[in-house]
Amino acid sequence: MEKERKLLIAGNWKMNKTVAEALDLVQGLRRELAAIKEVDIVVCPPFTVLCEVSKAILDSNLRLGAQNMSENSSGAYTGEVAAGMLKEFSVRYVILGHSERRQYQKEADALIAKKALTALASSLKPIVCVGETLAEREGGNTEKVVGMQVKGSLAGISKEQMGEVVIAYEPVWAIGTGKTATTEQAQAVHAFIRKTVASLYDDATARRVRILYGGSVKPGNTRELMSQPDVDGALVGGAALEIRSFSDIVKNSI
Ligand code: 13P
Repeated sequence: MEKERKLLIAGNWKMNKTVAEALDLVQGLRRELAAIKEVDIVVCPPFTVLCEVSKAILDSNLRLGAQNMSENSSGAYTGEVAAGMLKEFSVRYVILGHSERRQYQKEADALIAKKALTALASSLKPIVCVGETLAEREGGNTEKVVGMQVKGSLAGISKEQMGEVVIAYEPVWAIGTGKTATTEQAQAVHAFIRKTVASLYDDATARRVRILYGGSVKPGNTRELMSQPDVDGALVGGAALEIRSFSDIVKNSI
C-alpha cells in the first residue's frame, strides 16, 4: 500500500562499534543500499564515531543521527554534548527519550521536551521515543502511559515544528528480547499516537507525522510491520549492527 509519508528506517547502534567496526558497517551499507530512494535511511552511532562515519557517508543516501544530546546549548555541563556540536558532523536526527535513557538516566518527559525544543532550534530532527513496560501493558495502561509520554515529551512544540518531529513507539518489553509486538498491537498503538497528535495539534499535523516502530525488528518481520497503515518506519537496535540484517530490513520495508 502506498503511504502518504516517506518511510524512515533508523539504526540505533547503542553503545557498540569502534571506529574500524563502524567504518566497515557504513561502507557495507553504502554499497548495499546505494539504489534505495524510497526510504530515508539513518544511522545513529555513538558520539565517538560520528566524525568518521560522517565523512564515510558523504555523498550517499545515508543520513546521520545521534542517540542523545543536552538540553543546553553550551557551558559547564561536564560530559554532555550540545546540538551545535552534532551539527558540525552533519548530524540531521537525534534520538531523544529512548527507554534505556528513561530507565538508566531517569530522563522524564519534561526533560525530553526541553531537549526536543533545543534540537529543533538547531534544525535537528528529534526522534522522540515512547513506549510502555510489560507491567503497564498487562495492567491495561498502555494508552494511558503512551498518551502521557506523547503529551509530555512534545510539550511546547509548535504545530509548524511538528513537521520536523519523528515519534518512535518502542514497547519496552519488545526491546532486545526477541519479542516483537504483533502487527495488530503495533498498529493499534500507532493509531492511538496519531489520534493523540491530532488532539494536541490537528488532523493535518497528525497525518504528516512519521511514527516508527522499534523492538526486535528483523528482516523477517519488517514487511508485515511496515504494511500497517500507521507504521511509517522502524527504529532498529540489534539488527542494525550487521550489514546484511540492516540492509535487508531497509529492502524489505519497500
Ligand atoms: P532491538 O531492535 O535490539 O530490540 O532494539 C530496539 C531499540 O531499542 C531501538 O532503539
